[in-house]
Amino acid sequence: MRTQVGIIGAGPAGLLLSHLLHLAGIESVVLEARDRPYVEGRIRAGVLEQGTVDVLNQTGLGERMNREGLLHHGTTLRFRGRNHHIDFVDLTGKAVMVYGQHEVVKDIIAQRLKDGGNIQFEAADVSVHDVDGERPFILWRDKNGSPHKLDCDFIAGCDGFHGICRPAIPASIQQVYERVYPFGWLGILAKSKPVQEELIYNNHARGFALFSMRSPEITRLYLQCDPDEDIANWPDDRIWEELHKRLEGEDNLRLPEGPIFQKGVTPMRSFVAGPMRHGRLFLAGDAAHIVPPTGAKGMNLAVADVRYLSRALESFFRKNDSDRLAGYSDICMRRIWKAQRFSWWMTSLLHKFDERSAFENEVQLAELDYVVSSRAAMTSLAENYVGLPFEEQA
Ligand code: FAD
Ligand code: DHB
Repeated sequence: MRTQVGIIGAGPAGLLLSHLLHLAGIESVVLEARDRPYVEGRIRAGVLEQGTVDVLNQTGLGERMNREGLLHHGTTLRFRGRNHHIDFVDLTGKAVMVYGQHEVVKDIIAQRLKDGGNIQFEAADVSVHDVDGERPFILWRDKNGSPHKLDCDFIAGCDGFHGICRPAIPASIQQVYERVYPFGWLGILAKSKPVQEELIYNNHARGFALFSMRSPEITRLYLQCDPDEDIANWPDDRIWEELHKRLEGEDNLRLPEGPIFQKGVTPMRSFVAGPMRHGRLFLAGDAAHIVPPTGAKGMNLAVADVRYLSRALESFFRKNDSDRLAGYSDICMRRIWKAQRFSWWMTSLLHKFDERSAFENEVQLAELDYVVSSRAAMTSLAENYVGLPFEEQA
């Protein structure tokens, strides 16, 4: 089999890349290790930056998102038991959309299949070869165990943090930056009304909590926990009790309870590997970088990467111009490091760090106080949260 771009991974990065390439008249094949129900049911991120919403709308993927997604004009920071509103639209003229990552994934898969796209689910033993030559290829087995070879002009490694593409870049030319946080997030989905219309990022002496949602009937809630927390230690009653405690305050906000239908623990790390290119292999999304989820940047960064990559590939195939491919890693890295900074800052601002002294805890609260009382500081938070503008390439 032969294609122009062999894409490994059918997460947001790989799927959106194949859609953007299709719109530019470029063929691709997507190879995904898991089956379609698994990929479409994987619960992860929920906040889309304005730029991500624009990309989905401009490429014909926004119909269900605009109907079912929740447009949020601001967010709430809560500390010392009090809410403080940050108005994104007033501060930046932009908003965000709350719409689950797996819904975005479902929408792109449906569109790709409608457009005759080739997505091979349950692809096993995927390996990449000759990426530093002119004729790279991918070897893989289909779900019946039959071996295949996919010859490509380029390979896009969109296979997430645990994929095989990043390790295919020699360690001698790759620089890795990493910070592992001493906590994780326990996340649940529950059939209960959100406590309020906006998200609440809640700083509390017992640990951070995030009150989010997926619809007016479904809440998405997170609790700071140990990174290796065993979910078996968290029966539903304990989760609700802890969420209530972290929401206590003079305004008596009452969190409605309901049946919990999904639970999981996510460890937290910041990770960057660069450059994101080796020969004809290009990394995008979590394959190259991970952010702690506090800034809601993970999926948005994946979308930004493939937006740049699709344009660079288009320049190559249309005009035989390799300049954008040459600049791909640098243009992505500038955005990635700003998102890393913001995610690290939000994480530091909102979580409980056991090793911090009483002095440092007071400094953290003073910083929160400063952020919500200074228009300049609120604007800085807001413009990063709604997403920095895309850099336009020459
Ligand atoms: P992925 O979504 O990881 O997709 C990679 C795909 O490649 C997967 O489908 C995988 O099955 C496939 N694959 C892997 N290896 C192979 C192989 N060898 N061969 C073929 N296919 C392969 N971000 C937020 O902003 N907020 C959150 O609340 C949040 N929660 C998260 C919870 C978890 C458990 C995780 C892991 C991430 C979370 N993120 C969150 C981050 C966000 O979901 C990711 O940034 C986003 O999924 C990145 O998209 P991607 O397409 O790059 O990678
Ligand atoms: C959600 C996840 C995040 O990481 C975040 O910062 C905000 C919302 C969510 O899943 O709803």
